[in-house]
Amino acid sequence: MSAKIIDGKKIASDIRNSLKNQVDNMKKEGIFPGLAVVLVGNDPASRIYVNSKKKACEEIGIHSEEYALPEETTQDELLKLVRMLNEKEDIHGILVQLPLPKHLNEEEVINAISPSKDVDAFHPINVGKIMLGKYDFLPCTPAGVMELIKEAGVSVEGKECVVVGRSNIVGKPLAMLLLQQNGTVTICHSKTKNLKEVCRRADILVVAVGKAKLITGDMIKPGAVVIDVGINRLENKKLVGDVDFDSAVEVAGAITPVPGGVGPMTIAMLMKNTVKAAQR
Ligand code: GUN
Repeated sequence: MSAKIIDGKKIASDIRNSLKNQVDNMKKEGIFPGLAVVLVGNDPASRIYVNSKKKACEEIGIHSEEYALPEETTQDELLKLVRMLNEKEDIHGILVQLPLPKHLNEEEVINAISPSKDVDAFHPINVGKIMLGKYDFLPCTPAGVMELIKEAGVSVEGKECVVVGRSNIVGKPLAMLLLQQNGTVTICHSKTKNLKEVCRRADILVVAVGKAKLITGDMIKPGAVVIDVGINRLENKKLVGDVDFDSAVEVAGAITPVPGGVGPMTIAMLMKNTVKAAQR
């Protein structure tokens, strides 16, 4: 038996189409959503992500402004830019692409973004609201994962959910969203004992670690939904997730591919947050 493949590319494309209609209607009422994307330095992966975000904006009709700053930008210069964007009336969403160069203080930069324009939902105010279950924005990758689980036709309620990875951007907020939908949630990390046994309990297994092929088919419960957040480039340049797809697909009930699973959903959710920010 082979798992159903959850087609994130198709699902994300449908979401973008629906957002385009929404934006067309907003424009008739004089609302023109705008996103500022800030990129510091020359990280090639960040450049690719930023280009994809700009392309999605264009497709949907969201006004986008790119602020590409040199590697040697100072903390003060970056904070000044963020404060300018906080005040800029045609900008509803601000995204500072991470990671920043090492000499910059990421936390201080995120804290400087106006929570109402924080479309990544990284500001402590927005993080706190997620904890309380009363949020304006969901962080893009966890929101994308929840959409994929929904699209797989699976209800979270009462299910054993295992999240592998405890990052502030993915693992922690995702665990909270699964809990809010009444899942029984376990978070695994590098110090977890018996990772295999814990993973094998999962009806819904989400992996967000950044380690190629960490999860193999023998660690998956037959019929489970497997969502692979990892994006790892192998020495042969091939992109793979944190799940060993070939062995996992034989055991899982449904699984996301890499690429074409979570990645496109993250960008679609960023667009959704930007439209929402403009509406408010
Ligand atoms: N770097 C990797 N993922 C993300 C993301 O979702 N948002 C931002 N701003 N930077 C990232």
